[in-house]
Amino acid sequence: MTDLRTELGEAVAAAFAAEGVDPKLARVTPSDRPDLADFQSNGALAAAKALKQNPRELAAKVAARLEGDARLASVEVAGPGFINLKVADAALAARAAEVAGDAAHAGAAGVEAPRKVVIDYAGPNVAKPMHVGHLRSSIIGESLKRVFRFRGDTVWGDAHFGDWGFQMGLLIVAVGDEGRADAFMAEGDGPFPAQSPVTLEDLERLYPAAAARAKEDADFRDRARKATAELQAGRPGYRALWKHFVAVSRTALEREFGALGVTFDLWNGESDADPLMSEMIVHLETRGLLVEDAGARVVHVARPGETRKKKLADGSVIEAPSPPPLLVISSEGSAMYGTTDLATILDRRKSLDPDLILYVVDERQAEHFEQVFRASYLAGYAAEGSLEHLGFGTMNGPDGKPFKTRAGGVLKLHDLISMARDKARERLHEAKLGEDLPEAEFEDIAHKVAVAALKFADLSNSRTTSYIFDLDRFMSFEGKTGPYLLYQAVRIKSLLRKAADQGAEPGPIAIGEPAERDLALTLDAFSQAAAEAYDKRMPHVVAEHAYRLAQSFSKFYAACPVLAAPDAALRGSRLALAKATLDQLVIALDLLGIDTPERM
Ligand code: ARG
Repeated sequence: MTDLRTELGEAVAAAFAAEGVDPKLARVTPSDRPDLADFQSNGALAAAKALKQNPRELAAKVAARLEGDARLASVEVAGPGFINLKVADAALAARAAEVAGDAAHAGAAGVEAPRKVVIDYAGPNVAKPMHVGHLRSSIIGESLKRVFRFRGDTVWGDAHFGDWGFQMGLLIVAVGDEGRADAFMAEGDGPFPAQSPVTLEDLERLYPAAAARAKEDADFRDRARKATAELQAGRPGYRALWKHFVAVSRTALEREFGALGVTFDLWNGESDADPLMSEMIVHLETRGLLVEDAGARVVHVARPGETRKKKLADGSVIEAPSPPPLLVISSEGSAMYGTTDLATILDRRKSLDPDLILYVVDERQAEHFEQVFRASYLAGYAAEGSLEHLGFGTMNGPDGKPFKTRAGGVLKLHDLISMARDKARERLHEAKLGEDLPEAEFEDIAHKVAVAALKFADLSNSRTTSYIFDLDRFMSFEGKTGPYLLYQAVRIKSLLRKAADQGAEPGPIAIGEPAERDLALTLDAFSQAAAEAYDKRMPHVVAEHAYRLAQSFSKFYAACPVLAAPDAALRGSRLALAKATLDQLVIALDLLGIDTPERM
C-alpha cells in the first residue's frame, strides 16, 4: 500500500528521468499553498542549474509529461519553476477508501526488510527512587517500541533493571544492620527464608539513608563495597537476600509502569550479564583490548587525535583521550556500569541476535554510551552502527530545574499519576464530561485522560528538547493536548453510535468539499508520519500527525453535515470518512502509548 505523496513522487521522478534529469531531485512535498495545490516539487530549480537550463522551461517539460496522469486534477508551473500538483477528487476518494479498509494500519506502509530490534528503556533500579529521566525514558521508549513494531520489526522492550552494583551492597549492609535479616547474613549454603525480610517501604526508606551514610562514613562504605563484591562472587546468603530485593522492587515497579501503560517483553537485569563477564574479560584480553591503567583495567576507545583538555589534581592541564577509556575493572577489582552494558550487548547477541539496539536514556549518559559502543565495535560484539543512544532533554519544574514532586526530592511514579488523575477528575467535572456514567467508568476515563495528558505533553515535544511540567496546561481539553485528542476521538465514536442507532451505515467514499479534501489528504499523510517517526526515532512526528488529524476532522465536521447530509450516499461517505479518521486517530494515539476511552 503506497500513500499518494510517495506515488506522486515516483511519477514526478519518472518524468524527471525522461527529461534526462536526476530523479533524486524530484522530491514531492505537501504544498506551501494549500489553496493552490496539494503537493509541489521544487526539483526543477536545482536540476536546471545543474543542466544550465531555464528552470521554468524544464518545469514545463516535466509538467507536460505528467499531464495525462489520471490521479492529477491539474499540474501547473508556478513562480521560478515550481511544479504544483492538485490531486483528482477520485484519487483522493480511492486513497481514503484504502485507508478506511486497512483496520490494522490505517494506510501506513511497513518497512521493506523487517529487523530484530531491542529497545532498552526505563532502566529503573532496585530500591533507588526513579527520577524524571526514568519517566521520560519510559514514555519515549514505550512509544518507539510500538512504532517499530507497527512498521513490522520484531521488537523486544527491555527494562534493563538496575539490580547489580554498589547499591545492592549498600542495601545488604543496611538491612543487616537493622538485625532483621540475620538468617541471610550467615555464611554457608542455607537454606534461607523464602519470605522476604523487607517490604518495598523498607527498601525505599533504607536506600536513601544508606546512600547518604556511605558518603560520610568510610567504614560503612567499605563494608558495602565488600558486600557488593561478595554478592557478585556468589555468597549464597547475600544472593538469597538480593533475590528478595529484586522481586519486591520488580513487583512494585511493574504495577506502576502498568498504570502508565508501559510494559516490557524482558525484565533482564544488569545481573543477567554477570555470567558472561569472565568470558568477556578473557576475550578482551586476547584481543589486546584490555589494558592496565593506574591499577584499573580499561579499553581505550578514542581514535588517534581525539583528545580534549583535562585538568589534573595538581592544577596542570593535559591533552587526554576523548572519549576517555572505558573502565572495565576498577582498581578494587569490581565490574562497573560500563562493563555490565558491554556484557549485556554480548548477552543480547547470543540470545536474540538483534540487528539494532536502541538505548533510550538520559542525554547525560551520552559519553557512557559512546564508550560502550566503541568498545563493542572494537571487540566485535555488534556491527558498526547497530547501537544507538537516543538521548532526551529533561522535564523541568517551573524553576527550570529537573521536576520534583512537592514532597521533595523523589519522583514517585505512583504520586505523579495520582496527582494527574486528581486534576483529570477536576477537569472532567468542569467540562461536564462523564458525569452521568457509572463511577467505575468515570474513574477509568479519568485515568486515561491523566495518562494521555502526561504522555502527550512529553511526546509532542521533540525528544531532544527539554520542557516544563505544567499540569494545568497538559490537562486542558483545548489546544495541543492529550485530553483534547481523546475528546475528539470520543466525539467521533459518539457520532458513529448515533448513526448506527439511526440505521445509517458508512458507505462508498466520495470527495468534493474542500474540508473533505483536506481530511483525505491528512489521512494519506499518516504513512509518511509513521515512517518519519521511525527513521528519526522521534515520536513527536506521530503526535503532530494526531493533532493535525483531529483538527482536520473538526473543520470537516463543522463544514460538512454528516447525519444531516443532503442524501443517503453523501451521509454514507461522510460516515466512512469519520470512521477512517477515528481508526487512524486511535492507532496514532496507541503508537504514543495512549488508550482511548469509549465515551466521556
Ligand atoms: N539504571 C540506569 C540509571 O538509572 C539506566 C540504565 C540505562 N540502560 C543501560 N543499558 N545502561 O541510570
